[in-house]
Amino acid sequence: MTTIPDPTRAAPAPGVSPLRIGSVQLATNLLVAPIAGYTDLAYRLIARRLGGVGLACTDLLCPQGVLRQTAHTRILMQTCEEDSPLCYQLFGAENDPLVEAARWCVDHGARIIDINMGCPADKVTQRRGGSALLCDPDGTVRMVEKIVAAIPNTPVTAKLRLGWDDQHIVAPYLARRLEEVGVQLITIHGRTTEMGFSGSARLDGIAEVVSAVGRIPVVGNGDIRTPQDAARMMQVTRCAGVMIGRGALSAPWLYRDTWEHLSGRSIPTPPTLEEKCQILRNHFDLHVQLRGEHSAACEFRTRISWYAKEMHPCRPLKDALRQLDSAVRFHCAVDDFLRWRASM
Ligand SMILES: Cc1cc2nc3c(=O)[nH]c(=O)nc-3n(C[C@H](O)[C@H](O)[C@H](O)COP(=O)(O)O)c2cc1C
Repeated sequence: MTTIPDPTRAAPAPGVSPLRIGSVQLATNLLVAPIAGYTDLAYRLIARRLGGVGLACTDLLCPQGVLRQTAHTRILMQTCEEDSPLCYQLFGAENDPLVEAARWCVDHGARIIDINMGCPADKVTQRRGGSALLCDPDGTVRMVEKIVAAIPNTPVTAKLRLGWDDQHIVAPYLARRLEEVGVQLITIHGRTTEMGFSGSARLDGIAEVVSAVGRIPVVGNGDIRTPQDAARMMQVTRCAGVMIGRGALSAPWLYRDTWEHLSGRSIPTPPTLEEKCQILRNHFDLHVQLRGEHSAACEFRTRISWYAKEMHPCRPLKDALRQLDSAVRFHCAVDDFLRWRASM
């Protein structure tokens, strides 16, 4: 009798082990997805302290901004010893100073450089960067070859989508060619550019990239919300690791839980509401410490929508934080919310 696998009870993928990217050994096979505007230093430290993170990444960096050290880029590049290992993600096209920017990052401590080949935003693709690089795979390979040659002691990685649209699925070909010119890891988001963030990440598309690449690790990405999703992605596609983005903006403990599950241990009990509020407070306080109270207040007016997904019902907290203007008000709002929930 044939047994049909139950995806909700997927066993840990066989052979799960921490990843090695060239000379850089990671503690796990889980990567923090760069999410522009969200995965800054404060967030990365919160996720790292909760556990399970193998590698985190900066938001995408403009090479000209890196070289000029503009105020905006300096914030995006903010890091510290605890935020290690960290990958610096650059975007751009053939005519941009990517080689110089990669060298600058390495000279200033970068352990890994990633090239963004997946961003669908107009302001990036109109400059022929991000997922526009998928439209000219051979040109992209030539461009990346120069970056690899310029920083021989630092691994270069690439983050791709499947292709621009269904008629142009180039990721298997491009990934194989990138491996040939010395790229040390491929991350593949299982969507086309045309899909944006709609529909579901396609596991079959990720599996094709895994099959196309020979020696280097392939990391799967898209729609991981639970440890079981990660196990299923690894099992179905044979990818060596997974990258998690939006799911962990609501639950930064997802990396820890996923690593426990993939390693064959039991998934920790979910944090209580009080514990979730403590994570929220720690995150806010860390942001104040790193970027000041005004920045933290502005940021948490919107960031709360992500945390809220794990805290329902929480309308009063969301409403209070929408007006947020100080650290005192933030902590009062969390206190009021906990009292309100206790009285229910
Ligand atoms: C608001 C937003 C910003 C993003 N910024 C970046 C970025 O700077 N660099 C990048 O490679 N991907 C970026 N991504 C894509 C994510 O890294 C990831 O590939 C995508 O969200 C799918 O993974 P997930 O379903 O786990 O979130 C962004 C996604 C979102 C929603």
